Amino acid sequence: MASLPLILVTGANGQLGKELKQLAASYPSFEFIFLGREDLPIHHFEMVRHYFSVYHPSYLINCAAYTAVDRAEQEPDLAMQVNAEAVGVLAAVCRENNCRFVHISTDYVFNGTGNQPYKEEDATGPQSVYGQSKLEGERQAVQLNPESIIIRTSWVYSEFGKNFVKTMLKLMQERPEIKVVSDQVGSPTYAADLAEAILQIIDSGTWVPGIYHYSNSGTISWYDLAVAIKEMSGYNGHVYAISTAEYPTPAKRPAWSVLDTSKIQEVYGVAVKNWRVSLQRCILRIM
Ligand SMILES: NC(=O)c1ccc[n+]([C@@H]2O[C@H](COP(=O)([O-])OP(=O)(O)OC[C@H]3O[C@@H](n4cnc5c(N)ncnc54)[C@H](OP(=O)(O)O)[C@@H]3O)[C@@H](O)[C@H]2O)c1
Repeated sequence: MASLPLILVTGANGQLGKELKQLAASYPSFEFIFLGREDLPIHHFEMVRHYFSVYHPSYLINCAAYTAVDRAEQEPDLAMQVNAEAVGVLAAVCRENNCRFVHISTDYVFNGTGNQPYKEEDATGPQSVYGQSKLEGERQAVQLNPESIIIRTSWVYSEFGKNFVKTMLKLMQERPEIKVVSDQVGSPTYAADLAEAILQIIDSGTWVPGIYHYSNSGTISWYDLAVAIKEMSGYNGHVYAISTAEYPTPAKRPAWSVLDTSKIQEVYGVAVKNWRVSLQRCILRIM
């Protein structure tokens, strides 16, 4: 019997990687191998080549990334090594081995001063080291493997790992009041929905390379998100709106981060769920 096409997932112990793992059983026409950082540090290029020679994957989904946005300001070389150089190598190795490459990028590639949802072809202009490193990763992927699919996403949360939703839920257990910035606007993304979108693209059997935007639908601030978490979790304390100026961070955050997701809907028929519906699902899973 012919073996099933194999999907290799790198960065498998992050939020997105774990959501993909949960979904894998719903895609029985594929085999999956999940590799965490300990199994395959993507910046170890010889190991990358070794895994390809052993497994011969048909698809690689790269969920590995240096995601410490503020720390990246102090560690630009490391951020660049993981988010750019290693991505270029993964893309090139995929090309050499006839493997489809799916890579994840970020809304932080934009300068954040817009007022219309960003389309894939809009001008970039990252404001942070993290954003620069992710943009360079996109460039390398496209240059070294023009068949790559790159999905930019924003404000990712899940029941796994560290994220805004889990941080809020924790703070709401500990504090009578919470202050959250209300002048940064974007769209949250439930990692489970993003994982579903990626597997739907692979499962579709059609491959249209290029950049795609994916987030849940709705345009809200971090404050709005915190208020929704308060309502859904039954927190009795207060959530106060503050400005970015009152909550300075080492890395500059975009004020406007909304992604236009029409391309992925039109090309792949991917459903974009409402942020509130997905948030409720995630919170029910966590609580
Ligand atoms: N989180 C967000 O809000 C957000 C927003 C926009 C885009 N994205 C993008 O979405 C993708 C998935 O993000 P996520 O939220 O799932 O991130 P995450 O939870 O931080 O997971 C990233 C994973 O990559 C691993 N990793 C780091 N360096 C590595 C290396 N050199 N080799 C192999 N693995 C390495 C990390 O391992 P350790 O835990 O051991 O460090 C971690 O398990 C990333 O490309 C990210 O840039 C995320």
